[in-house]
Amino acid sequence: MRDVHTPARQRGEASSKNLVTLAVVALLVVLVGIFFLPNSQKMSDPAAEAQAVAERLQPVGTVEVMVAKAGGGARSGEEVYKAVCAACHAAGALGAPKFGDASAWGPRLGAGYAALLNSALKGKNAMPAQGGGDTSDLEVGRAVVYMVNNAGGKFDEPKAPAEAK
Ligand code: HEC
Repeated sequence: MRDVHTPARQRGEASSKNLVTLAVVALLVVLVGIFFLPNSQKMSDPAAEAQAVAERLQPVGTVEVMVAKAGGGARSGEEVYKAVCAACHAAGALGAPKFGDASAWGPRLGAGYAALLNSALKGKNAMPAQGGGDTSDLEVGRAVVYMVNNAGGKFDEPKAPAEAK
């Protein structure tokens, strides 16, 4: 590159032409940095980029689980169902009453919400306690109501302790 400093220093003054050239070069360097570096990183390794994003998100997810276990900010029945219960109830694995199957759920609805919740919390035959997942009691209750109400039942969604009053 042409040396733009020397003439100005030799004359002992800043030539305005040299200052303009310097400003343009500096601007170009910044623009190249902004436009090309992040793009080339992304294109060169999408897997690493995805990994980096996952790592940045991880602490948020951890906090969310802790909050859910403490009772506040509990997940909805649908969220818990998808995360835990669907593993068996979506396809009816191990003889689980299938999601949305009114004839499978029908005979169980008569037992009432309390009895079904009790089965879900403590387990029943091949059904593990809490579905084997990492959930609060409130979340299991919401998941029971979500499944039942999608199979012809009409249970009220259990309220969080703070909302119940
Ligand atoms: C590992 C498989 C599995 C998972 C995961 C699972 N279940 Fe089940 N569930 C079963 C099976 C099997 C039965 C049938 C039990 C029986 O009646 O013998 C069942 C039955 C039930 C019943 C009916 C209980 C009764 O008294 O009739 C409810 C309610 C229920 N599950 C809720 C849930 C909820 C809520 C979740 C998620 C938090 C969940 N299950 C996750 C396998 C599972």
